[in-house]
Amino acid sequence: MSTEDDPGEDLRVVSQRIPAETEANDTVVVGAALVAGLGGVVFGVGWLAGWSLGVIGTGAGVGLLALGVALRRYVVERFPDVEAVEPRPEADRFEQPRIADVPTVPRRRLLGRLISGAAGVMGLGFLTPVVSLGPSPGPALTRTSWADGVRLVTSNGQPVRPEDIAAGGVSTVWPADNVGDEIAAALLLRPAVDPAAPTNLDWVVDGNLLAYSKVCTHAGCPVALFRESDEALFCPCHQSTFDVTAGARPTFGPAARSLPQLPLGVDDEGWLVARGDFPEPVGPPVG
Ligand code: FES
Repeated sequence: MSTEDDPGEDLRVVSQRIPAETEANDTVVVGAALVAGLGGVVFGVGWLAGWSLGVIGTGAGVGLLALGVALRRYVVERFPDVEAVEPRPEADRFEQPRIADVPTVPRRRLLGRLISGAAGVMGLGFLTPVVSLGPSPGPALTRTSWADGVRLVTSNGQPVRPEDIAAGGVSTVWPADNVGDEIAAALLLRPAVDPAAPTNLDWVVDGNLLAYSKVCTHAGCPVALFRESDEALFCPCHQSTFDVTAGARPTFGPAARSLPQLPLGVDDEGWLVARGDFPEPVGPPVG
């Protein structure tokens, strides 16, 4: 038979890690779990209220650390590390080695629930950034204000006629009702060499007057320079170059996609108008 101090008559304890004093250990688990929950609250409330990132980050960090401490102490207490040797495995002689202060099942259950609750509060806190993302932007990132019949105007709101653009000329234009809209900005130009496929020739006026998005397809910089020597548009940010006579396909630099071409036409009064929006999203890929 075994006694309080003797693990067993025939069981020889080879090693055992004695957990910390049960009561003290419980206090640590409870305290750490409460701190973890508090950290989750600080993170969630702080995010929604717009507190400084330092406070929010500290709340999250301390909370996670406390949760780790609580789990660690809980596991250590729940699974005492004992190694024992039983010479003869006879059931009637088997006695579990006695470990002082092994927690009782109800207390372990209570501590487990407390830690689960703290983890849940932290999880809710970490969900608040998702809630605050707001509604989907919808087509706002893929559409512009160009539409069929919208006149092209310059920065001072002046509509443009085809004859206003001489050979080799270029002008930045916007939709008449949205001057200055960076996403809708387009370059109206007349290269000396007539464009060919893959340029959409149905959207070209006079055989060589056409318009492309001004937003670079690499990282969104405004394409600023028309280089007549090789009929190319040039982006100053990372030197991407686009061939305007071939659908503004990229010929140099990091841009991998052509500048979208604006469907172009002339209205009854002889003003240049769009025949619709760009056929594809302008600028760099979204999402
Ligand atoms: S943004 Fe134009 S090349 Fe990078």
